[in-house]
Amino acid sequence: MRFIETWIPATLASTRDIAPGIREFLIRPDQLDITAYPVGSHINVSVSIDGLPETRSYSLVGEASPAGFKIAVRRTDDSRGGSRYMWSLQPGARLDITQPASLLAVDWARDNYCLIAGGIGITPIFGAAQALARRGARVALHYAVRSRGEAAYLDDLATMLGDRLVVHASDEGRRLDLDALFASIPTGTLALFCGPMRMLDAARHAWIGAGHPLPDLRYETFGSSGTLPTETFRVRLKDSNVELEIPRERSMLDVLNASGHDVMYDCKRGECGLCAIDVVAVDGEIDHRDVFFSDHQKQSNQKICACVSRARGTITVDTLLRADAV
Ligand code: FES
Repeated sequence: MRFIETWIPATLASTRDIAPGIREFLIRPDQLDITAYPVGSHINVSVSIDGLPETRSYSLVGEASPAGFKIAVRRTDDSRGGSRYMWSLQPGARLDITQPASLLAVDWARDNYCLIAGGIGITPIFGAAQALARRGARVALHYAVRSRGEAAYLDDLATMLGDRLVVHASDEGRRLDLDALFASIPTGTLALFCGPMRMLDAARHAWIGAGHPLPDLRYETFGSSGTLPTETFRVRLKDSNVELEIPRERSMLDVLNASGHDVMYDCKRGECGLCAIDVVAVDGEIDHRDVFFSDHQKQSNQKICACVSRARGTITVDTLLRADAV
């Protein structure tokens, strides 16, 4: 059950492999007048997984272009099926997408900007780097990757930023030290981050530890990244005999809604909290993958964002209570 979701038809115009396991897709909406969007925007793409419709959210790469929307998709072994579907598409394929939306508010009037990307998290950061470089802003991009050979858009970024691009390649023994980085930047710096959940947690702690105001750290994350592997788990519904299996390629939200247990949602990215439901019991472990709840709320395990969070084992939930009761 979603409030507003407007789908528009589009065509996959072209694909390009930009790094091992990372493919760029140029998607052209039928209505070409809607290609403008703010930096940090994403689109939802309707994908088909085992014959069932699902939605996946992808950040748009770079600033808006009349050529269409560019996304980059990393194919992972831990995929829930979205990347496998995207990689199966050939140019000319028809797609349904949503209009771009941005949750990464950029304040363009700061004296300093610090961009941090972890792996494929470079996708929303690329456009911010482009826009800031074009404006002549004081900006540095810290790009954490396993190796330079696996880093998407490295040459483009080097051309754009020169020595303001700092690559932290773990195979070179140069890991990103977020504590040291944030301690070294002046107060008032705006930091834009995109990376996996574990790295985001570290960034938030380091940012607060360095004495910066939390609102000055703006972030995007991937709903697919958690601390546990993506596995099948079970959900019991309180006061009923219903027990559902959540396969690795589907979300708890989708399974609950498909089985008639209406759960409201909006972003499906772990950001808005609308899909939060009460947890009554945990026989296993919850893997909170949202950015809506605080660390304290996650530790208490009283609620779970059904759109992105997962579990190991079996959890019992009550779908009647919603996030507005938090
Ligand atoms: S729908 Fe927004 S957090 Fe789940």
